[in-house]
Amino acid sequence: MKIIVINGPNLQLLGKRKPEVYGSETLEGLQKRLEDVGRELKTKISFFQSNSEGEIVDIIGSSVKNEVDGIIINPAAYTHTSVAIHDALESVDVPAIEVHISNIHRREEFRRKSMTAPACIGQISGLGTDGYEWALRAMAGHLKKQT
Ligand code: DQA
Repeated sequence: MKIIVINGPNLQLLGKRKPEVYGSETLEGLQKRLEDVGRELKTKISFFQSNSEGEIVDIIGSSVKNEVDGIIINPAAYTHTSVAIHDALESVDVPAIEVHISNIHRREEFRRKSMTAPACIGQISGLGTDGYEWALRAMAGHLKKQT
């Protein structure tokens, strides 16, 4: 099983960016932790972070060619604006789970709407960086049920 974890704009700054909202774990630390979970789940995990909408669209579009079975995605600010990422997720026959570190429903009004969640099988929001781990476990369970 192969799962890709995609992070959108400004998430390379995790650990330094508004730690009161996004916590103190760095992206590198989070990725190491997810690799451990991947080993436990016997799942290969790859990582992709970009500040560019087009690059995120491209990596989603390559997922079938790259034999990716599941996508975990935090589209960050593009969550609230990107028809292109929504369409990319809908264009590939690969299940996706959306993750938000903060609870987008408790924050500013403009963050409450997700353009991308309707193209996902589910969403985890507000559980901190642990949300990625729960998403990984949920995706592994989902993929197992399908085989
Ligand atoms: C975020 C929430 C978004 O509203 C914000 O633009 C982000 C991070 C989160 O993980 O909580 O960059 O996706």
